[in-house]
Amino acid sequence: MGTDDPVVIPHPPRWPVYDRAAADRAAELIRRGRSFDYDHGPEIAGLEAAFSRRHDGRHALTLNSGTSALLAAYFALGLGPGDEVIVPTFTFLATASPLFLLGAVPVLADSDGPDGTVSAASIERAVTPRTRAVAVTHLFGHPAPMDEITALCRRRGLALVEDCSHAHGSTYRGRPVGTFGDLAVFSIGGLKLVSGGMGGVLLARDSRHYDLACLLTAFKQRSERTVRDPRLRRLADVGLGGNLRISPPAAVLAQSHLDRIVELVAAKRANVHRLLEPLVARPGLTGPVIAPHVTMGGWYDVVVTVDPERAGFSRDDLVAALRRQGVKADVPATRPLHLSSVFTGAEPGHRHPYPPDVLARRFRHRRGDLPAAEALHDSWVSLPGPYFNDTAGALVEPYRAAFHAALDRLGAAGPPVPAAGGAR
Ligand SMILES: Cc1ncc(COP(=O)(O)O)c(C=O)c1O
Repeated sequence: MGTDDPVVIPHPPRWPVYDRAAADRAAELIRRGRSFDYDHGPEIAGLEAAFSRRHDGRHALTLNSGTSALLAAYFALGLGPGDEVIVPTFTFLATASPLFLLGAVPVLADSDGPDGTVSAASIERAVTPRTRAVAVTHLFGHPAPMDEITALCRRRGLALVEDCSHAHGSTYRGRPVGTFGDLAVFSIGGLKLVSGGMGGVLLARDSRHYDLACLLTAFKQRSERTVRDPRLRRLADVGLGGNLRISPPAAVLAQSHLDRIVELVAAKRANVHRLLEPLVARPGLTGPVIAPHVTMGGWYDVVVTVDPERAGFSRDDLVAALRRQGVKADVPATRPLHLSSVFTGAEPGHRHPYPPDVLARRFRHRRGDLPAAEALHDSWVSLPGPYFNDTAGALVEPYRAAFHAALDRLGAAGPPVPAAGGAR
């Protein structure tokens, strides 16, 4: 192999990884014909009870995805045509896209601060007389500033939905995320720290929201058991139009991660700290900025910020150099929504629900509209966080060696330079 050939680092299986007991339980369910459940069997009831216990006794409902859970949350709030919901621009598309189905209008708010989350100030700039609700995403596992956001929502009479999909196990002032909003949603699918392959969880403070979400999600067998309000329970025979249920095998797989969440969060924290050391020791590179009163749980994406002036190379140079050393580095896959198709003028759906003035105001974004989120996305290198959920940390040392090699090749091995105004 020539010295310029790309290096290959053997990667272990990517998350979600399951222990033997969890895989056996899922297989046993399949063998017993329990690959689905119209009712409220022990696997689903158990996962909901565990989420509820971890989140101040909130009403917990499992669904087939985080996207479905967001749809159910917005549906339960009664959002419909013309209602505006403030959504961070820096989030996964599903924080906004279920609103299209309801005819409600996502209004995008800029990031505020180094973690990429929204703040009360950035939300407030997006408020109009039509605003009914606010959604926040605890981006990449860093909690948004919930004190000021809950105060704003109270003051303005707005409902609050937390999207906790990146933030399993994260806390804000000692309280778990998911306990601040009227409703909270966790994806428990794909690469999330708690993952059943496909799945979502909705948490509701108000049992009426839970009841409406349940009627949207489940059929008679379950709704008759778990919908509390007798007037709403009467609707259980027909439901409210969705079939968004999780499967028992997915529930037991997710439960196996939830049962180990303390261990998984501790392992992830240790892995990420050790992983980032060689990078953040270099001038111009900084690791995630974590506020003193929060803890990071899920840590969905692990990002490093490149300041090209001080580093002497660009973000894209670093991505390319890391990739040559076998690191699965990239720009963050989660990118500001206002630069995506629907928000830059491609109409949302073949029969979109929005009148021309709404399309003109909310779906014709251009670069520069929400500059803080753009600047963060343009400066971040994403490392493949889900590989570091692995409690053995198998990739940490190979990646550290690759980081040293990449930085050496970029010629960034010199002594630190002063932050500003000094000689370079
Ligand atoms: C912030 C956020 N919200 C919602 C979702 C949607 O979850 P799901 O893929 O389970 O539908 C995701 C998925 O990646 C996400 O990252």
